[in-house]
Formats: sequence, C-alpha cells, structure tokens
Amino acid sequence: MEFSKAVVTSGPTREWIDPVRYISNASSGKMGFHIAEAIAKWIPEVTYIHGQVQGEYRSPEGSRRISVETTSEMKDAVLSEIQGATILIMAAAPADFRPAESKESKIKKEDGSEVILLELVKNPDILKAVSSEILRKLIPGCCLVGFAAETDFLEEHALGKLKSKNLNYIVGNYVGKNEKGFGEVETSVVIYSPLGKVAEIGPLSKALISERIVEFLKTDVSKVVTRS
Ligand code: PMT
Repeated sequence: MEFSKAVVTSGPTREWIDPVRYISNASSGKMGFHIAEAIAKWIPEVTYIHGQVQGEYRSPEGSRRISVETTSEMKDAVLSEIQGATILIMAAAPADFRPAESKESKIKKEDGSEVILLELVKNPDILKAVSSEILRKLIPGCCLVGFAAETDFLEEHALGKLKSKNLNYIVGNYVGKNEKGFGEVETSVVIYSPLGKVAEIGPLSKALISERIVEFLKTDVSKVVTRS
C-alpha cells in the first residue's frame, strides 16, 4: 500500500467554563510536533491538526497546519482531513469532558457560596468516529494509530483502548505530575498492535522517540491487521 497522506494531531484542547476559565490538560504539543516532522520525511502530504500547543510546536516542517480549540472542532477537522488519508496518528490529548453550559459572563466568586458545582458532559471520541467511518467503508484502508496516556496499568489500558477504538496500533506512555510524559521530558513508549506488545522505545528525547515510532510504522504497516 502506498502511503500518500498523513494526518497528525497534537496538543490539548480547551473547553470553556466562562469567558476567562477553561478545562484542559498539560499536553505541550511536543510529541505530536516531532511525529509530524518525522512522518513528513516519509509521507509527501502531512496535515498537522493542533490544539493550544506551546508556540514552538505550532509549525512542524513539511506539514500544513490547522489550529483548533475544542475537542468538537478537532473532531470536525480530523473528519474533513481524513478523506484521502492513508494514516492518522492521534498524539493529541483532547479534553474528554466539557462543561454542560459555557457561561457568557465571568462566574463571580462573591456570591457567598463556598462550593460551586460544575456539570460536565462527555465529548465525542474522535478515533471512534474515524474508525466507524472506516467500517462504513467511507475511508477504506486508513491505518489508525492512537496514543494511550496512562498513570497506571499501561498495557491493560492501552490494549483496552486499541480494541474499543478499533485501532491498528496504540502507543502507550506513562503521564502524570512531576515531569512524567508531558512537555520537555525524556520518555519511554510501548507500541501495541492487536497481536500485543510489538515494540518498546526509550527512554529518549521525544524527537528521537518520534523518529523511532515512525521508523517502526514504516516497516510494520505491511503487517497491519485488516478489519473485518
Ligand atoms: O504533548 P506532550 O506534552 O508532548 O505530551 C505527549 C502526550 C502525553 C500528550 C502524548 O504522548 C499522548 O499520550 N497523547 C494521547 C493523550 C490522550 O488523550 O490519551 P487518552 O488515553 O485519553 O486517549 C487515547 C487516544 O484517543 C489518544 O490517541 C487520543 O488522542 C484519542 N482521543 C481521546 C479523547 C477523545 N475525545 N477522542 C480521541 O480520539
């Protein structure tokens, strides 16, 4: 199979509570940025869809970029760019929940109450939306690669996500406070396919980890398990 177009997502999304506050996470965009730079050396057309990444991770060399803010916007951008794509790598950390209501004015803390309850609703799952389009044969043969950011039980959770999101590969990594997984740190990843653990990479810089992930995919995709 010829790999002609890649879509790579990166960074966190933001879900606004009111005009000055939002829900997000600690993703910097670094991993997705380096994946996009590495894959551009292999695949001629790369679209980089990013959330609110740090400035230096906005424009990977060799990619066309699309900036989004919320998880719904990232889903719309992915579904529109995935047409004609042969591989999707979701290194982004989209917010899983959003406030049920985003207030038009700043919520005041001077109203006397000590507790403020925030009702959250689930965001759409982007990878599940894409894999259902594949199953519906609207984008046949597209290779789906997810990331699993876990604080514990990496293999169990990563394989669970691989299965539930119907992916070809998932790249598992540990994340958490104290310089783990997010941002500038050196890190380690484990790649899983439906066959189980297929590669371990690191600890290395994210630039080198990304190159190794892309090298692995380049040589292994011929063995991609066909979906039924
Ligand atoms: O950006 P950095 O600071 O360099 O950090 C890199 C990273 C830790 C963010 C990256 O390596 C990583 O693990 N990205 C995935 C983070 C994540 O959201 O993991 P998850 O286990 O919650 O989601 C599993 C997969 O589903 C991911 O590929 C994610 O992009 C995707 N997803 C998640 C939520 C959602 N609503 N739709 C999705 O498709």
